[in-house]
Amino acid sequence: MTEEKIGITGTGYYLPEKVLTNADLEKMVDTTDEWIMERTGIRERRIIAPGETVSSMAEQASRQAIAAAGLEPEDIDLIILGTITPDTPLPAAACLLQRRLGNKTAASFDISAACCGFIYALELREKMLRGGRYRNALIVAAEALSVVTDWEDRNTCVLFGDGAGAAVLTKDSGGHRILDSFIRSDGEYSSLLIIEAGGSACPISIEQIEQRRHFIQMEGNKVFKLAVSSMVRASKEVLRRAGLTIDDVTWLLPHQANLRIMKAVAKGLKLPEEQVYINVDRYGNMSGATVPIGLAEMDHNGVLKPGDLLLMVAFGGGLTWAASLVRW
Ligand code: UT7
Repeated sequence: MTEEKIGITGTGYYLPEKVLTNADLEKMVDTTDEWIMERTGIRERRIIAPGETVSSMAEQASRQAIAAAGLEPEDIDLIILGTITPDTPLPAAACLLQRRLGNKTAASFDISAACCGFIYALELREKMLRGGRYRNALIVAAEALSVVTDWEDRNTCVLFGDGAGAAVLTKDSGGHRILDSFIRSDGEYSSLLIIEAGGSACPISIEQIEQRRHFIQMEGNKVFKLAVSSMVRASKEVLRRAGLTIDDVTWLLPHQANLRIMKAVAKGLKLPEEQVYINVDRYGNMSGATVPIGLAEMDHNGVLKPGDLLLMVAFGGGLTWAASLVRW
């Protein structure tokens, strides 16, 4: 087993106050609460208020995580923020978060791995904390999907929400050990989940906006099937690497895209559904933020007990997939 002395010492999360229910969506597009519940398991989601951004949500989640770790913002020497909806294309939202925290000591950067942002960042921390140069890393995933959602497209607008989750990782601490992580991607499927306009391929223009190409488009059905198979594969691979089996797992924390996907993953892994942590009903799909928000909820509500083995697994645009194992 590849156990190392890098552990989670604090977690935090933030959700905007505004709740958008399925009943609200019934008034906006041709949909029903019944359809949304049956096909996705989502009851409601959170939406940012004017003035709120990815870095402002990330700040709230980060301050909680830093305090829980018994640290001050200036103790952080590495900030990695997973997001596909940064405040601005330039600079990185991680730098804006650093400014909000009043931190002058960290190296800060964003990573774009969609729903896998948090687990990709966990894997990166291994290389960066191991080298000896960094001690306290702040790993955040924050997403304001409401700003890239087409509120006239019933295929996608019922799915997404906004939020932020954070964890502090400390070297040589008594934190909860990250045993191993596994990250992978396949750009062949890049068009299945895409925001076409706003980059170098399709700079933003009135024409692009009129064609609604600045919003998320998804081939839901194809993504669904790949999500299940990839998350099962990633889970098995990280367990194999760590010399463990599914019988050792206490909790599965999957990316919260769709209740049916999570149930299919549990079935594929032969893990009882009672061991799957679920909050998609309350928050919808918040891309990379779903995993750290779930982690912080499980931590703060005492769901995770000492010795528990937590398997986190995600899947998203790219396509990307990733899994990570934590001994609590
Ligand atoms: O986070 C990144 C990863 N993302 C995911 O993993 C999402 C994966 N995909 C999904 O979760 C599901 O594919 C959806 C929830 C997006 C869709 O569920 P589905 O069971 O795959 O439905 P579908 O796309 O096959 O559509 C079935 C029907 C269609 O009507 P017809 O063509 O059969 O007449 C849709 O037009 O449902 C219709 N439909 C809706 N009806 C009412 C689609 N959206 C809605 C809606 N309300 N909101």
